[in-house]
Amino acid sequence: MKKRIAIFISGRGSNMDAILRQTRDGILRDACELVLVFSNNPEAKGLETAKNAGVPTECIASKGKKRENFDKEVINFLEPFKIDYIILAGYMRLLSPLFIRTYQKRIINIHPADTRAFQGVGAYDWAYKNKLQKTYATVHYVDEGMDTGDIIEQRELDISGMTTLEEIEKAGLALEHKMFSEVLKKLFENEQ
Ligand code: GRF
Repeated sequence: MKKRIAIFISGRGSNMDAILRQTRDGILRDACELVLVFSNNPEAKGLETAKNAGVPTECIASKGKKRENFDKEVINFLEPFKIDYIILAGYMRLLSPLFIRTYQKRIINIHPADTRAFQGVGAYDWAYKNKLQKTYATVHYVDEGMDTGDIIEQRELDISGMTTLEEIEKAGLALEHKMFSEVLKKLFENEQ
């Protein structure tokens, strides 16, 4: 059975777009169905991308709402869709314990660093400023902390020859776009 996934975004949505393409006619075609793209931010660029691709979208603005109240709204909204996995792709909001419990071990995030070394936003900038020779992309389960959940897979990125933040970001995103779908495919297939 194909897994039913919802992708959560807050901004650009390039990882969402990469997964969307792989579900349409790529490596995720037989592994999952992209049921919905959700955003907490009405301005998220990725919402347009998803709409243009014909994927159902929903936005519930989180601004000014208490974490648990907002998450309850989202849980209620999602319920009828019978979502198997929530994929966070640049979702810039910490999830409440209630949400984590509702989708226990079924929420997956991608983080552009080794989550044991750096958590939160600005990971490429951190790698750049610290003149790292290599950095990582991490796909992990989401728990109540910020980028603290169990690691599913990490891939290394050699940034030793790179001199600008833009270069690092470009190479990092290319790795993320490839890696995220590949890891999801393995995960979903192992669960059949
Ligand atoms: C990516 O670097 C992702 O790893 C991080 O936020 C960024 C989102 O980019 N969690 P995009 O919205 O997928 O383009």
